[in-house]
Amino acid sequence: MAAITTLHPKTIEIVQSTVPVLEKHGEQITKRFYELMFSNHPELLNVFNHANQKQGRQQRALAAAVYAAARYIDRLDAILPVVRQIGHKHRSLGIQPEQYPIVGKHLLLAIKDVLGDAATDEVIAAWAEAYEAIAAVFIQVEKELYEEAAAKPGGWRGFRRFVVAKKGKESDVITSFYLRPEDGGTISDFLPGQYVSVKLSIPGETYTHIRQYSLSDAPGKGYYRISVKREGATAEKPAGIVSNYLHDHIQEGDVLEVSAPAGDFTLNLTKETPVVLISGGVGITPLLSMASTLAIRQPHRQTTFLQAALNGRVQAFDQELRTLAENPAFSYYVCYEFPSDEDRKHPHFRKEGRIDLEWMQTVIPSKDADFYFCGPVPFMKTVYRALTQWGVPEERIHYEFFGPAGDLTKD
Ligand SMILES: Cc1cc2nc3c(=O)[nH]c(=O)nc-3n(C[C@H](O)[C@H](O)[C@H](O)COP(=O)(O)OP(=O)(O)OC[C@H]3O[C@@H](n4cnc5c(N)ncnc54)[C@H](O)[C@@H]3O)c2cc1C
Ligand code: HEM
Repeated sequence: MAAITTLHPKTIEIVQSTVPVLEKHGEQITKRFYELMFSNHPELLNVFNHANQKQGRQQRALAAAVYAAARYIDRLDAILPVVRQIGHKHRSLGIQPEQYPIVGKHLLLAIKDVLGDAATDEVIAAWAEAYEAIAAVFIQVEKELYEEAAAKPGGWRGFRRFVVAKKGKESDVITSFYLRPEDGGTISDFLPGQYVSVKLSIPGETYTHIRQYSLSDAPGKGYYRISVKREGATAEKPAGIVSNYLHDHIQEGDVLEVSAPAGDFTLNLTKETPVVLISGGVGITPLLSMASTLAIRQPHRQTTFLQAALNGRVQAFDQELRTLAENPAFSYYVCYEFPSDEDRKHPHFRKEGRIDLEWMQTVIPSKDADFYFCGPVPFMKTVYRALTQWGVPEERIHYEFFGPAGDLTKD
């Protein structure tokens, strides 16, 4: 890690004193920032997720990162873990150092626009300096991540062409795609819990679309498997672009562009602590990879898998989990929100309704375990709160968002 730039004390003072202002106008500034940036650099619409933009999720994620950086501007090393997590996402998207000044320029323009006279030349100059220091940290962390991914046996930089070797239905809404490299070469190992980015050029769409998909099988099998939930249209929202395209138009033999596995939501295979994996809906994908890896690498390690699904029709990977549960060290419990009569006969069905702490305490042998969970945000909030209420220490709680990271402690 290269040395972190030291800023002038006056710059630090100005930047830190503007944190409350940023907090007040944060989302407005980032919203303006995106408007300006996309109008001057429409090519960036090839990498940003348009749905996240429309729903303001990305605005909130970026605003949170900027506040954090501003708060720690005098000791940027404190934000390195967060930078690393974002860096994984940036690396999987293919973000480049030369794009940082573009973001910086438009962020400053937006600050000026929103704050008006309050954004004096002195404030803008201090922020320009601070942004450069923050960007340098991101660029360095990402350089290391790019090098790491490329240096692995079977690794690569950027996007590589993968052929869909097999497409298979996992439930009424989830379909798996087994991907093998078109070049016939080897593919790098990954840590269970990691994801890849898939880049699609969809006929009729002006821009490419990139989405992340967790790898749902264990590493070392010669293919990557992704399992995609169809995001159907409802009265309130349009159908998801990429998931529907994958379901409806990508067939065996077709090619997808895929970046090397990334992400820091990974199972620690050097520990022997009991593991509890808790999934909601399609959030099962990284957790199933963890469960399948445990079966190969640590079959003796006590594992409890709680799967929440609306009902048996949309529940995925039940057969794989039933097979894993033949191992006495592996327990599998199913929670259906709306079980059918047939669902009630499922041998692992234990809970009707939504997951709650009371039920978790009846099936999880001990809170002295490492907990991993993933699912829709409300589900994640429930699980996170249940675990903290139970007294599980923060360092034993691990989770992944299927979108820009949020705050599970807030409503
Ligand atoms: C680390 C990570 C891992 C992931 N792993 C998986 C996985 O294993 N499996 C999986 O299925 N998904 C996974 N995802 C989610 C995935 O990346 C996509 O977000 C998902 O497939 C939806 O993409 P889409 O293009 O179909 O929908 P998008 O077009 O991106 O839309 C997303 C949602 O926003 C709604 N929306 C769009 N526009 C608007 C609007 N104007 N107003 C209101 N709502 C709107 C859509 O209806 C849809 O529900 C993961 C995400 C991350 C970050
Ligand atoms: C210091 C500058 C930057 C900061 C603080 C920052 C911060 C963030 C954060 C917090 C996220 C969300 C991560 C998550 O998924 O949880 C993110 C995602 C992203 N960033 Fe950055 N970023 C910076 C620079 C850049 C640059 C230079 C680009 C390229 C032009 C870029 C492109 C993206 C894209 C495309 C995403 C994913 C967006 C999505 O899927 O909606 N970022 N960034």
